[in-house]
Amino acid sequence: MVPEATQEQHPVTPAGTAPFLIGDRMTGGYGAADILHDCTVAVEKGEIAVIVGPNGAGKSTAMKAVFGMLNLRSGAVRLDGEDITTLSPQDRVAKGMAFVPQTSNIFTSMTVEENLEMGAFLRRDDIRGTMEQIYDLFPILRDKRRQAAGELSGGQRQQVAVGRALMTQPKVLMLDEPTAGVSPIVMDELFDRIIEVARTGISILMVEQNARQALEIADKGYVLVQGANAYTNTGRALLADPEVRRTFLGG
Ligand SMILES: Nc1ncnc2c1ncn2[C@@H]1O[C@H](COP(=O)(O)OP(=O)(O)OP(=O)(O)O)[C@@H](O)[C@H]1O
Ligand SMILES: [Mg+2]
Repeated sequence: MVPEATQEQHPVTPAGTAPFLIGDRMTGGYGAADILHDCTVAVEKGEIAVIVGPNGAGKSTAMKAVFGMLNLRSGAVRLDGEDITTLSPQDRVAKGMAFVPQTSNIFTSMTVEENLEMGAFLRRDDIRGTMEQIYDLFPILRDKRRQAAGELSGGQRQQVAVGRALMTQPKVLMLDEPTAGVSPIVMDELFDRIIEVARTGISILMVEQNARQALEIADKGYVLVQGANAYTNTGRALLADPEVRRTFLGG
């Protein structure tokens, strides 16, 4: 083990040990004022990283920055060692990134199956196999595949949104509050499916309002406050940290 102080003096990470995806020391916002301040989030291959923090902390902004929807004033985004900071979101999709935004993440007037087909718009190969995998992951979507997505329940809509993102066969799946507005049972169910996806080797970078439950399934957790990293550790360590518990997890 390299002592922490030595790591500080030698910030260059040796090749092969860099995170699979990292938004590294990101600073930027939507206009003149910065929202993110030197903010870092990262996820390893096949792991689950969770971003938590108060409303307005910049969690969604950090996700948008990693996905290329925000111009950074400084910092970088790297995927599998490649600097992708200047790539458009569409180019990032082509590189293996998928993003489910917090709102407006499905086409409500289209059927479930059409939503999945839309997710595969960049693909030129046969998408049937992937669609079957998604129906196996979320069987209710197979039953409702001819129904307008707007007619589904909140939890089912979130399954459509995740399924649509998976249609690109991503290496990284980014989810902004996938369990927003769903019951605790549906949340548990969705988290189980997300774990299943991660076990296939896909990295999950996820923002969650249900901080305690999300940190329980997180390999790595990031607590953001006012656009900056307040605490970073394993999910387990954050859950055990009295200060984090008291301030962010309701005791
Ligand atoms: N499109 C935008 N244009 C300008 N400012 C924005 C925009 N989106 C967000 N902001 C501002 O950026 C800050 C961070 O917002 P953000 O949505 O990233 O927070 P969040 O942590 O995701 O909050 P929540 O938990 O409510 O989803 C807020 O002050 C917000 O007002
Ligand atoms: Mg948000």
